[in-house]
Amino acid sequence: MADFTDHSNVQRDPAELSLSEARAEHAALASELEAANLAYHRDDAPVMDDARYDALKRRLAAIEAAFPTLKTPDSPTEQVGGALAEGFGKIPHVVRMLSLENAFADEDVDDFDDRIRKYLGWGAQDLSYTAEPKIDGLSLSLRYENGVLIQAATRGDGETGENVTENARTITDIPQHLTGAPEVLEVRGEVYMSHADFAALNARQEAAGAKTFANPRNAAAGSLRQLDASITRSRPLRFFAYAWGDLSQPLAETQMGAIERLAALGFQTNPLTRLCAGPEALRAVYREIEQRRAGLGYDIDGVVYKVNDLALQARLGFRSTTPRWAIAHKFPAELAWTRLEKIEIQVGRTGALSPVARLSPVTVGGVVVSNATLHNEDYIQGRDSKGQPIREGRDIREGDWVQIYRAGDVIPKIKDVDLARRPGDSVAYAFPTTCPECGSPAVREEGDAVCRCSGGLICPAQAVEKLRHFVSRAAFDIEGLGAKQVEAFFADETLPIRTPADIFTLATRDAAEPLRKLKNRDGWGEKSVTNLFAAIEERRHIALNRLIFALGIRHVGEVAAQDLARHFGRWEALAETLDAARPAALAHRAADLAEAEERAIALGHNRRAKVSEARSVAIAAADVPRGAARAWADLVAIDGIGPVVALSLSDAFANPEERAAINDLVGFLEVQEFVKQVAVASPVTGKTVVFTGTLEKMTRAEAKARAESLGAKVAGSVSAKTDLLVAGPGAGSKAKKAAELGVTVIDEDGWLALIEGL
Ligand code: IVH
Repeated sequence: MADFTDHSNVQRDPAELSLSEARAEHAALASELEAANLAYHRDDAPVMDDARYDALKRRLAAIEAAFPTLKTPDSPTEQVGGALAEGFGKIPHVVRMLSLENAFADEDVDDFDDRIRKYLGWGAQDLSYTAEPKIDGLSLSLRYENGVLIQAATRGDGETGENVTENARTITDIPQHLTGAPEVLEVRGEVYMSHADFAALNARQEAAGAKTFANPRNAAAGSLRQLDASITRSRPLRFFAYAWGDLSQPLAETQMGAIERLAALGFQTNPLTRLCAGPEALRAVYREIEQRRAGLGYDIDGVVYKVNDLALQARLGFRSTTPRWAIAHKFPAELAWTRLEKIEIQVGRTGALSPVARLSPVTVGGVVVSNATLHNEDYIQGRDSKGQPIREGRDIREGDWVQIYRAGDVIPKIKDVDLARRPGDSVAYAFPTTCPECGSPAVREEGDAVCRCSGGLICPAQAVEKLRHFVSRAAFDIEGLGAKQVEAFFADETLPIRTPADIFTLATRDAAEPLRKLKNRDGWGEKSVTNLFAAIEERRHIALNRLIFALGIRHVGEVAAQDLARHFGRWEALAETLDAARPAALAHRAADLAEAEERAIALGHNRRAKVSEARSVAIAAADVPRGAARAWADLVAIDGIGPVVALSLSDAFANPEERAAINDLVGFLEVQEFVKQVAVASPVTGKTVVFTGTLEKMTRAEAKARAESLGAKVAGSVSAKTDLLVAGPGAGSKAKKAAELGVTVIDEDGWLALIEGL
């Protein structure tokens, strides 16, 4: 059965995950990251290596990018450090200590440059960057007032750090006094330990029977974060300065200038710091530093690029935890060869058949790997989604020797296959034509990379996944009825839950059950059963968006569910529109099919049969009643709902079994009307704002990002719904239209005054 919570197993493109799969994987990743954070930051006892940590975090970020609603403020992607250890005093950071976005491929560097140029509205003008090694240690913020070191704080959670002032004073690279420094100066940089000092420390620890450290970074962290400063003094820590926090006066006009100023003040700065004219020069420095890495005598794990001009850095600003003006270009992860023992198929909620490689266990980057994703049928055969060869067209077979990598992704992938070691009797992998869980035909639609089980609710794998989704946090979220319980109930003989509606009859069935009552079973007691039934009862009242989302319809994620709920307000309105729109939905599909077939014919494929099928559907559906056309238009006009979502919804509602299950469920519910929520309170919250003309103090992207962060909706054109037009010089038709409609018009300064201080 599918197990997508086991994220160390298989990784699929986040865009292919259902929300429940994404949520399950997200939860598992988040808890693993939280545990790793605690182990690392609080206990100085890391439970995983860096590459894995980074990979987990990247995967989490990728999932959040595909499913933005999963990104809550407490997500590990929003945390830049870890929990604070007890025993240290706390120091709030005046300026947050942030993290860096990671880049892995050479192209990421171009993207970084492109993004910055776009954000700044910078054409081909010069844009220089600094490049410097990314030191693998732990960051520290040193506060100097009137040239005297008064405080040293670790990063902590980015907002509040641990007070390690006494410990920092024992580090010789950290000056206690500065001459000629601004009145207030917070210097930030990395505390690290050299390879030689690390080896000597471990030897001493071993001789004394004390614990040894896994790597120099752990040794540095463990040494700095000692409650007894005399222990820190005995440990050879070093410090490189590379950034700053609170300042009473700017250090310089450029990053390079600021680094030189810090060096002049007596800090160690990295001698490999270079000024670069653009992405090509950055890559050259990356290669240079990579080559020198082994001989540096301390650990680095990449190269950090920063916009050199500090005024531009200020304009670029920050995302939630990372600056837009910097990026860490990490060194590549490890590769390893192993044998692919078996190819297995997992079945997801929407019936997607995902192939998984079961491997002979192998260590990659310090982690034992025994599974890798094979994505889909084409990938196994050596083709990408566009039919282009991957691995030069080499297919993957059971018994093959495959090269595994973990760069950029949590779940290992297969980079290559060694044909020289392919067993003589090996056969090409035949992708199943039936579902391995229920035996229904597995169908791959035109243009879809994924092969799906057509069994719908008949398929136990799909049914269980649907139920797991139904009870998930953003769906019905029933206390005491999680994924595990739902799986157990699914298999239960006496009190089965096979469809969502069964959840709401559980209490009555239990009451009528003479022998195997729930309260008498292992793991259940009187109280937990009472609580469960109460929790279920409570959920009979359900918000419309939750209900729509909970149905687990393909392409209908949390955001689409919200959009639909916002638009229709009531369940009946949604259901009526979908029913009314059905003929138009079919006509849309037919037109799509015909178009695809025409394209296929143009490409010389022989698809006669399909074409005629498409035509007959088209003819049948050509005479779409006016009401149906109107209902369909209403549906696809909803912001965020396109034909793909609309068609998927329409199919689900028109499928007799699915509709019966939905109706049964809704019969037990009192669906609440959708209530709009206001996210942030500001003068522009909930307002629709349009920017027009030339903005002189910010680019459109900056203006838009700022307005949205304050809860405004930024639209591209003026309409009766527009609340505010911000017009710069050269504003034309939009300003005219705004005047006609009586929309408030302000200039850029007016806008800045309005949002000032927010
Ligand atoms: S700049 C606002 N430069 O990497 C960003 N960070 O992954 C300030 N790090 O938290 C950071 N070497 O602990 C910067 N040359 C360098 C660095 C560096 C190591 C660490 C730092 C940061 C982490 C982000």
